[in-house]
Amino acid sequence: TAPVIAIDGPSASGKGTVAQRVANALGYGYLDSGSLYRLVALAGQQAGVGYDDEAGIAAIAAALSAEFRGDQVLLSGNDVTEAIRSEEMSAASSKVAALPAVRAALIERQRAYRRWPGLVADGRDMGSVVFPQAEVKIFLTASVEARAERRYKQLIAKGVAANIRPLLQDLRERDERDASRSVAPLRKGEDAHLLDTTELSIEQAVDAVLGWARD
Ligand code: CDP
Repeated sequence: TAPVIAIDGPSASGKGTVAQRVANALGYGYLDSGSLYRLVALAGQQAGVGYDDEAGIAAIAAALSAEFRGDQVLLSGNDVTEAIRSEEMSAASSKVAALPAVRAALIERQRAYRRWPGLVADGRDMGSVVFPQAEVKIFLTASVEARAERRYKQLIAKGVAANIRPLLQDLRERDERDASRSVAPLRKGEDAHLLDTTELSIEQAVDAVLGWARD
C-alpha cells in the first residue's frame, strides 16, 4: 500500500498549509479530512437535520457527495469552498465530528484517498484511527495565542473585520470540544513526532516534516 504521512493537530495550527506543501514537494495526494466534517455540517444544515440527530447526520455523512478539485470543494456538484469556511460551519463541524456514528461513516471514504505515490492526510485522528499504520505521524501544534494571531491575520488579509479576543475564545472552546469528546479525542500519540510551530515559519515546519519523511 502507498505510504501515508499523517499530520494531526488543533485548529489554526497551520497544519493545512504545511500538509499541502509537503504533499506538493513529494508529489503525494492531499486529504483535508476537516473539509469532510465541514461538508457534513453544511449538508446537514441544508437538509434541515439537527446537529444532535446522530443517526440523521450519520446518514448524510454516508451519502455525502464530496469532490475536491484543486483548491475547490464541491458538495453535490456545487462550489462550497467559501461556505464551509464560515465561522458558523467551523463550530458546526466540530459538533458533528463529536458524533461517533458520523466518524464511523467517514472512515472508509478517507482511506480511499490512500493511492500511489502516497498521501499526506491532515486532521485530528489521521495517525490514531484512520491510518494507524502511517509511515510518518506528526502532531503539529502551536500555542493558542499564536494560533489566534494566525487566524486573525488570515481574516484581515481576506478583508474580514476581526478581533483577537473572540478568536481566542472560539479556539479554546473548539480545543476543549476536540480534546474531551468520547471518540478520537485530539491528543498526541506516543508514536507521533511533536512539531511545535509557535516559533517556526511555514518553511521551517515543512522542512521538519520532510526530514522525518526521508528518515
Ligand atoms: O481549519 P480548522 O483546523 O479550524 O478545522 P478543520 O481541520 O477544517 O476541521 C473542522 C472540525 O472538524 C474540527 O474542529 C474538528 O472538530 C473536526 N475534525 C475531526 O474531528 N477530525 C478530523 N480528522 C478533522 C477534523
